[in-house]
Amino acid sequence: PERCVVAVDGPSGSGKSTVSRRLATAIDGIYLDTGAMYRAVTWAVLQAGVDLTDVDSVIKVAQETDLSIGTNPLAPHFEANGVDVDAAIRGPEVTGAVSAVAAVPQVRAMLVQFQQDIISGAPRIVVEGRDIASVVAPDADLKVYLTASAAARAQRRSAEDATDVAATEADLARRDKLDSSRAADPLKQADDATELDTTGLGIDDVVNRLLDMLNSKV
Ligand code: C5P
Repeated sequence: PERCVVAVDGPSGSGKSTVSRRLATAIDGIYLDTGAMYRAVTWAVLQAGVDLTDVDSVIKVAQETDLSIGTNPLAPHFEANGVDVDAAIRGPEVTGAVSAVAAVPQVRAMLVQFQQDIISGAPRIVVEGRDIASVVAPDADLKVYLTASAAARAQRRSAEDATDVAATEADLARRDKLDSSRAADPLKQADDATELDTTGLGIDDVVNRLLDMLNSKV
């Protein structure tokens, strides 16, 4: 397709990132990892030594952080205030704090605007997150909601991070609960999104299914 926006939402560990990057490459498009944007802001908040319950200070840091957002699906590179944060935003400190930062409506409003600017400047883009189909890109050409069993999600994540499966499953459950129950733009499947359960499916299977869906729409 000449122009298209694909929205990929779902809980942590559902395979969103791997699938979104592969799909973006397949359509010769760019890739936007919105979770990494919330993580980069969270990194800056922690770096500033701000207490997460001090919402005004969290907002202030978010507003003052200069984010550089990589959109190359083969190597998305992020910087915050000129610092390479690719490794740090995947670390336990950021992972433990990100849902609290992402629950602040002013932080979301700022990042959603940023995301919409990136989307409007791109001919073909795959955007992954929690609220893409519902809030960020309600006019997306294809909206997918990826799920997988809690066990499958924990297994994938712990294989990526080399962490303990049980601890990972507990952490995913904790974040899912926070992300689904927050007041501002909670994680939830959009009415017009197609659900795809990836439990037991290989990456190629999932990417091919999404390409079929896309080709039948645009
Ligand atoms: O996708 P990832 O696990 O990197 O996202 C990290 C966190 O960022 C999520 O747990 C969620 O709190 C937040 N997030 C969000 N909205 C998005 C993407 C991520 O609130 N669109």
